[in-house]
Amino acid sequence: MMTLSAYDREWLKRLLAYINETRGIDFSMYRHATVQRKLELRIEATKTGHYRHYLEHIKSRPEELDSLITALTIKVSTFFRNPLVFELLGAFVLPELAAEFGFLKVWSLGCAHGQEPYSVAMLALDLMKREKPVDIKILGTDVCDGAIGRSFEGTYPESELSDVKKKFLESFFERVAPGPDQRHAQEGMFRVSNEIKSIVRLECGDMLSRLKQSRAKEDRYNLILCRNVLIYMNRFLQSEVVRLISDILHENGYLVIGESEMLHEASREFFTQPFPGIKIFRKKSPLKKEGQGPS
Ligand SMILES: C[S@@+](CC[C@H](N)C(=O)[O-])C[C@H]1O[C@@H](n2cnc3c(N)ncnc32)[C@H](O)[C@@H]1O
Repeated sequence: MMTLSAYDREWLKRLLAYINETRGIDFSMYRHATVQRKLELRIEATKTGHYRHYLEHIKSRPEELDSLITALTIKVSTFFRNPLVFELLGAFVLPELAAEFGFLKVWSLGCAHGQEPYSVAMLALDLMKREKPVDIKILGTDVCDGAIGRSFEGTYPESELSDVKKKFLESFFERVAPGPDQRHAQEGMFRVSNEIKSIVRLECGDMLSRLKQSRAKEDRYNLILCRNVLIYMNRFLQSEVVRLISDILHENGYLVIGESEMLHEASREFFTQPFPGIKIFRKKSPLKKEGQGPS
């Protein structure tokens, strides 16, 4: 990775400001080394040579800006990623939330191609077969890069469903003919069922802006997943995102982060960690002053 001169830094700043203005994502708050490395690869691929010329290039070519956003946001995910987390969600967290709140309102921040919100939806609908049904709403949000919107239709090649239990595959997916691009023509394609789609809404957006909007509207959730996203952000942005999440979580609601991610000291005061070593956190009730009875 090249060392930046003051001139380079100035043009890098302008380039990131342009992305923020046009696409609403502030990559200056993402890990610097990763952003710089990905940018250098796009500069090389477009033979533009420098941030300054690359900025001119993307101004007239929105499709290159899409490619850059794709490069900067790593959309790798799988259904039921880290199976133990989903076992705990299905066995303890969702039943408890359904019983306590009488509804499930879930948000998957950085939902990639929908695998995470659809996995939660399968667990929730499975639970409803055993317990008293409650209202379920699941939202998934991810940065728009031109292709993500299309992926939200919920169609996946068979090879991407290896972590989906057979009973879920049979209950919540239907087999479809391969799409026009024939990318996966050699294998079966599966689409999530309408029952799953009826409780899941996927949208394009920047999580920071969306979290702020939700806080302003007092739109609350009882389970938020923000997994394998914080890792790309700098400490300041990580704390800001966790703070906003804690603001819009109901008391006793849950936050799930990625296996290799952590909550910083300042964020930990808002949460308990009910399953030792597992990155599932529960929002604490606000501390009552000593001697203060229930209000
Ligand atoms: C590595 S994937 C993780 C997907 C899923 N949460 C999981 O754990 O399998 C990270 C996702 O976060 C998304 N992302 C990164 N920054 C974002 C932002 N500011 N707003 C919304 N999504 C974002 C990326 O586009 C990517 O799809």
